[in-house]
Amino acid sequence: MMINFHTPVLLNEAIEGLNICKNGTYVDATFGGGGHSKLIISKLLKGKLIGFDQDKAALVNSFDEDNRFIMINKNFKYLKEELSNLNIHTIDGLIADLGVSSHHFTDNQRGFSLKYDAKLDMRMDHNLEHDAAYILNNYNAKNLSRIFREHADFHSPNFIVKSIINHREKKLITTTFELKELFNASVSNKHENKFFARLFQAIRIEVNDELSALKELLNQALEILNPSGRLVIISYHSLEDKIVKNFMKFGHFLNSPVKDFFGNPSFSFKLINRKPIVPSYHEIKLNNRARSAKLRVCEKL
Ligand SMILES: C[S@@+](CC[C@H](N)C(=O)[O-])C[C@H]1O[C@@H](n2cnc3c(N)ncnc32)[C@H](O)[C@@H]1O
Repeated sequence: MMINFHTPVLLNEAIEGLNICKNGTYVDATFGGGGHSKLIISKLLKGKLIGFDQDKAALVNSFDEDNRFIMINKNFKYLKEELSNLNIHTIDGLIADLGVSSHHFTDNQRGFSLKYDAKLDMRMDHNLEHDAAYILNNYNAKNLSRIFREHADFHSPNFIVKSIINHREKKLITTTFELKELFNASVSNKHENKFFARLFQAIRIEVNDELSALKELLNQALEILNPSGRLVIISYHSLEDKIVKNFMKFGHFLNSPVKDFFGNPSFSFKLINRKPIVPSYHEIKLNNRARSAKLRVCEKL
């Protein structure tokens, strides 16, 4: 395994949440550095683990020698289709540890980090048609406003949108540092880290269409999970967590239950933890990237 690719977050809590049966079939939808997968595999006897990661960089971590493991280099929104190609139609548990891995931030060529001057790429999957530069240079004002408001909670994104549009009329925005420079005068030193983290997050979510993929994954997981099968999701920002929370509670993405013919609420899952599990102070001290993690676990009824 590549050194420092990624340190798994809430490792024991998440795998405990999967309630692994040694001969079951499990999916790690976000393989990354394989930290969660490694612990899952260690608990399997004749069971199987299928790992998904859309980023081919994650393939170096795959457990190629282990015949209990299969790696799929695809977006997890193709969960059902890819499993069906393997003749797998039901599973006993699925874990997704959402977002990007540390590797994405430390690779200074991929444009995820505000620390390095790089081409504005931010695609986890290199086959995606549009990168971050495309979005910044081609989206109209309404669409830009939408991504900054919806993906990063900027309540008044107008000044961001105006700065982008004014600049690109003179010169295209192509690198991370060019993007940062647009706001150097308007954002105080005290707030710049938070501001840029949110700005980059909004663009990254749009480039990778992260929220739609998450909804696809959850809907498909519900279809193929066996009764008593577990869904274990670690999210890192409130948009993701809200989607996961509503889905586990109500089986869809609205904040209210589905009603049956007689008006009685019907539920798809039993919640294993009512409140999300968060990392300990000790874990956050060792791994600062864990600080915003929220783990939710539910069991299919
Ligand atoms: C937070 S990391 C997971 C780390 C992993 N749990 C570990 O222990 O190393 C998220 C990983 O999921 C991948 N990923 C994110 N969204 C994805 C998607 N829609 N489909 C497939 N892989 C995705 C990223 O490329 C990244 O490698």
